[in-house]
Amino acid sequence: MESHTHILLLPYPVQGHINPMLQFSKRLASKGLRVTFVTTTSVRNSIQANASSSINFETISDGSEEVQDVETTYQTLERFKSKVSQSLAKLIERHNSTKCPPKFVVYDSFLPWALGVARQHGLDGAPFFTQPCVVNAIYYHAYQEAIQMPLEEGSSISLPSMPSLGINDMPSFLHDTGSYPDVLKLVVNQFSNLQDVNWLLCNTFDKLEDEVVNWMASHWPIKAIGPTIPSIYLDKQLEDDKEYGLNLFKPNMDTCMKWLDTKEVGSVVYTSFGSLAALGEEQMKEITWGLKNSNCNFLWVVRESEVIKLPKNFLHETTEKGLVVSWCPQLEVLDHKAIGCFMTHCGWNSTLEALSLGVPMVAMPQWTDQPTNAKFIVDVWKVGVRIELNERGIATKEEIELCIREVIEGKRGKEMKRNSLKWKKLAKEAMDKGGSSDKNTDEFVAKLAHS
Ligand code: UDX
Repeated sequence: MESHTHILLLPYPVQGHINPMLQFSKRLASKGLRVTFVTTTSVRNSIQANASSSINFETISDGSEEVQDVETTYQTLERFKSKVSQSLAKLIERHNSTKCPPKFVVYDSFLPWALGVARQHGLDGAPFFTQPCVVNAIYYHAYQEAIQMPLEEGSSISLPSMPSLGINDMPSFLHDTGSYPDVLKLVVNQFSNLQDVNWLLCNTFDKLEDEVVNWMASHWPIKAIGPTIPSIYLDKQLEDDKEYGLNLFKPNMDTCMKWLDTKEVGSVVYTSFGSLAALGEEQMKEITWGLKNSNCNFLWVVRESEVIKLPKNFLHETTEKGLVVSWCPQLEVLDHKAIGCFMTHCGWNSTLEALSLGVPMVAMPQWTDQPTNAKFIVDVWKVGVRIELNERGIATKEEIELCIREVIEGKRGKEMKRNSLKWKKLAKEAMDKGGSSDKNTDEFVAKLAHS
């Protein structure tokens, strides 16, 4: 029987925000809600596959189709807000005149204004935080002006329910305040209208961030509902798609998996810096040599826009030890027995995916929440090492080689692997029937169905 509880989900239009919200949408649909996943025109043309028949997809205008000149970040964000507010309102009005009008909008926490649009049209709403609670809590302290910005070199920051954080453990926007002032406003403003929301949905799980989740729960009705990875990776018995579903990049599917099949168990370093980070040419060269010198097999994702930064002839020279692809099915790759470690930029999805699949990490954070995620990977969850940068901010080939060897072959590496398997188990428990994240999701669904 078709559900009459209809809900809209609106992600921020980048891969790392689409994936978790899409997977959460599928979970809500599996629990009986009717779900419409709303994408915007700037990503529509890049979408490679349409995910799932369990949810509906609609695209609304974000005004990108009318943009003629190069925009500043400020202009992009303002245009997005004004156009999506209008087109979301129209979408709701259209659905409100159907037999199954939506009741609720789950919107990306980067888009707090969506709550106002929902409420003006008789719906309620809740933010979905794609980043870890520790990062959310830090941004909240910044919103409260309890953190002095820009952070001073050498300072250490003490905040409730978290270890003392050095400047290099803090989200980059809080000390590099000059480079992305508009993104800083965006992340801090996530907290601008939370006084009367009934839910704060977070892509994490209670045991992973217990102290900070408890601290946040004393301020807001927060519910951890993650890790939002397809359930088939947590329990092989379950039926689920192997991918999130909406790829903004085209994966080299067969190439990767066939190549991995030829490699020994635990022998491959999987390397990726996610969908946004852009490394310098010098850094790319150091990675090239670090990977080669480690003498491990490596699978490296270098997005099409970044290939030009690879050393000349490198692509032709990669022997059977190395494979460079422009995008891969990351979950399937991490789940492959040949993978020994993940050299990662520590984006929150990549971090959660590695934790949930029991893969230890070599952390090489680039910006945004990644330095904080790296701190927790190393010092709290103890599932990885962090590459130290030299005085010019470069990860040298020697340091890269050393860190890879430590995780793949070293004594500490074995301990990290054991810890990774512990987190994998806890991630599964959280998402299993009756687990903490599953219960929170059930509670959310039940409240909506009876509201
Ligand atoms: C962004 C931010 O940079 C990140 O720090 C934040 O936490 C979320 O938004 P991104 O940099 O793309 O995301 O990194 P990440 O969060 O790791 O998300 C990347 C997603 O793309 C993951 O779900 C990963 O599985 C997927 N991916 C990546 C692929 O499917 N194939 C690839 O080759 C690389």
